[in-house]
Amino acid sequence: MRVGITGTPGTGKSTVSQRLDGDVLDISRFLKENGIGESVEEEISVSREKLREEIPEPEGRQILDGHLSHLLDLDRCIVLRTRPDTLRERLEKRDYGREKIEENIEAEAMDLVLSEAVELQEKVYEVDTTDKDPSEVKKQVSRFIQTGEERYGNVDWTEWI
Ligand SMILES: Nc1ncnc2c1ncn2[C@@H]1O[C@H](COP(=O)(O)OP(=O)(O)OP(=O)(O)O)[C@@H](O)[C@H]1O
Ligand SMILES: [Mg+2]
Repeated sequence: MRVGITGTPGTGKSTVSQRLDGDVLDISRFLKENGIGESVEEEISVSREKLREEIPEPEGRQILDGHLSHLLDLDRCIVLRTRPDTLRERLEKRDYGREKIEENIEAEAMDLVLSEAVELQEKVYEVDTTDKDPSEVKKQVSRFIQTGEERYGNVDWTEWI
C-alpha cells in the first residue's frame, strides 16, 4: 500500500510521517540524493512522469513524505493544512527568504495542494494540524489509512487571503 503525506511546506508532513507504521521515503531527499530533477531556487523541479519512474515501488506499506507525493498513484492521500498565521511562524523559524514564505502562505490560503490532490487521487483525507499535537494528527491519519473513509473540504482559509 502506498500512502502519500502531502501539503504546503511546514504543515508537518515529516513530523507525522515519522510516527506512522511503514517505510518512510522523504521524496525531496530521495531526489536530491539521487540527482534527479533540476534545482530551481532551492526547490527540486521534476515532471510527474519522471517521479513515477524514479520513486521505488512499495514493498508493504510505503509512506511517501513530501509535497510532491500527491502526483504519484496513491492508495491513500493525506493533505495536511495549517492556518496561514501559524504556518508563517513555522516558516519564519527556517532560513527561508521572505518571498518563499509569502509564496507558501499564499499557496496554503488558496488550497493549492488540496485541489491538486482531489483532482488526482481517489482517497483524500484533509487534516488541520494548527491546534493539534502531532500525536493527535497521527491518530486521525492512522484511522484513515485503516478505513479509507474520505474527508476533505473542512478547512477554509478565505478570511486569511
Ligand atoms: N502538529 C503540529 N503542531 C505543532 N507544530 C508542528 C506540528 N507538526 C509539525 N510541527 C512543527 O512545524 C515545523 C514543520 O514541521 P515539518 O518539518 O514536519 O513540516 P514538513 O511539512 O515536513 O515541511 P517540508 O515540506 O519543508 O518538509 C516543525 O518545526 C515542527 O516541529
Ligand atoms: Mg518535511
